[in-house]
Amino acid sequence: MLSTVDLTVFYGTLVHTRSLKDLEIITNGVLIVDNSTGKIVRLDRNVDDVDNLLAELKLGDTKVHRLGPYEFLLPGFVDTHAHAPQYVFTGSGMNLQLLEWLETYVFPAESGFKSIEHAEKAYTKVVSRFLRNGTTTCSWFATIHLEACKKLVDVIERLGQRGYVGKVNMDQNSPDHYCETTEASLADTRAFIEYTLSKGSLVTPVVTPRFAITCSTPLMTGLGELAREYDVPIQSHLCENEDEIAFTGKLFPDSKHYTAVYDDHGLLQPKTYMAHCVHMTDEEIDMLAERQVGISHCANSNFSLHSGVCDVRRFLARDMKVGLGTDVAGGFAPSMLDAIRSSFFASKTNRIWHRSSGNKDYSHLETAELLYLATLGGARVLGLDDAIGNFEVGKAFDALWVDLEHPDSSVDLIGPETHLQKLEKFLYNGNDQCLQHVYVQGKRVAGSAVTPFPKFI
Ligand code: GUN
Ligand code: FE
Repeated sequence: MLSTVDLTVFYGTLVHTRSLKDLEIITNGVLIVDNSTGKIVRLDRNVDDVDNLLAELKLGDTKVHRLGPYEFLLPGFVDTHAHAPQYVFTGSGMNLQLLEWLETYVFPAESGFKSIEHAEKAYTKVVSRFLRNGTTTCSWFATIHLEACKKLVDVIERLGQRGYVGKVNMDQNSPDHYCETTEASLADTRAFIEYTLSKGSLVTPVVTPRFAITCSTPLMTGLGELAREYDVPIQSHLCENEDEIAFTGKLFPDSKHYTAVYDDHGLLQPKTYMAHCVHMTDEEIDMLAERQVGISHCANSNFSLHSGVCDVRRFLARDMKVGLGTDVAGGFAPSMLDAIRSSFFASKTNRIWHRSSGNKDYSHLETAELLYLATLGGARVLGLDDAIGNFEVGKAFDALWVDLEHPDSSVDLIGPETHLQKLEKFLYNGNDQCLQHVYVQGKRVAGSAVTPFPKFI
């Protein structure tokens, strides 16, 4: 039985996906959130008279948040791959390829995170920016430094994001100033997992070998065992760049291919997800599919570091778990709207290539698919599809209240636009000012509205 005491009621247009191709636009929707749990407790479609419905539910006194004609709710965005410390040098080094870029920009910048003060300042900025851009859940790489990693967890908790956080592991092929011993790397990872789990917050620890090149055999094996022991996810990079793939092959000559390197070290588990996967043989894809590994598609990064153009249709055709990642700062944009747009271009590029080589049936990612990948698809990659990703009853209310007519909105409505066109204008032209409220687990955590709901402050 619902009671008025601690509920929030939204009335208006709701847009979400139920599967890859199933975009649902709910008009005159009534969505009720239980503020004590932050979960959706009721969803009604096509309600002409919300007051009448609430009266029938004996909730007549509950305040209703009515969305205007240019407003709608979307599920919060899920970024499946980003490097929190790399935000400090966004846009730098885009003339370089992966391995040179890591050496020249990434390792020196990440090394600076041994300073907790620097870490706190940078992490507060980056997490705040992601929230303002509507990223309610993010899977972060931090650095090798235990204390700074804990700080990232604290910052995410304070700012209210749902976070997956990894202490990065590197015990070889790394500069002296930014390298660990195998023993310290494993011990600090255990300490980090325990610290994060003990908080009981919305933050989950993730075992995070940077990539095979910087991880020895004993380190990778030990990390796979740690992930099993604590039943936590694993994230890493896979088949991003041709030089990286060749170097990995040299370092691990006993493994059949790059994907098998991780498999041979026990790292391909059902909770594992890998960023990029641009240059994959069918055999490698089959191996990922068999192991139920998820994929983070980072299109901006793949263009910016000229790594290649990933064809996610190869994974989607096998019903594999696929989400989008910004890969800040390999990708220069801290925004899932950009990830959607970059993925659209990657997909169009694939379509051009396929069609010019005679495959007339190849289709690019359409609106429903892009929204799915940015929300429910990402949730599935992180094993959160029972908890977030759309507006199903029982899920947490992680949501974006979009207002296309905010004074600083970058969207122009000239009319008449269908609901689908309003969604598309937001996805392709929208900015952070269109997000007047950003909610995680029912709590307002960001937004452009001048006056946030008193309830949520
Ligand atoms: N591979 C190993 N480390 C990294 C990183 O920091 N960014 C990207 N894009 N690829 C990597
Ligand atoms: Fe990355």
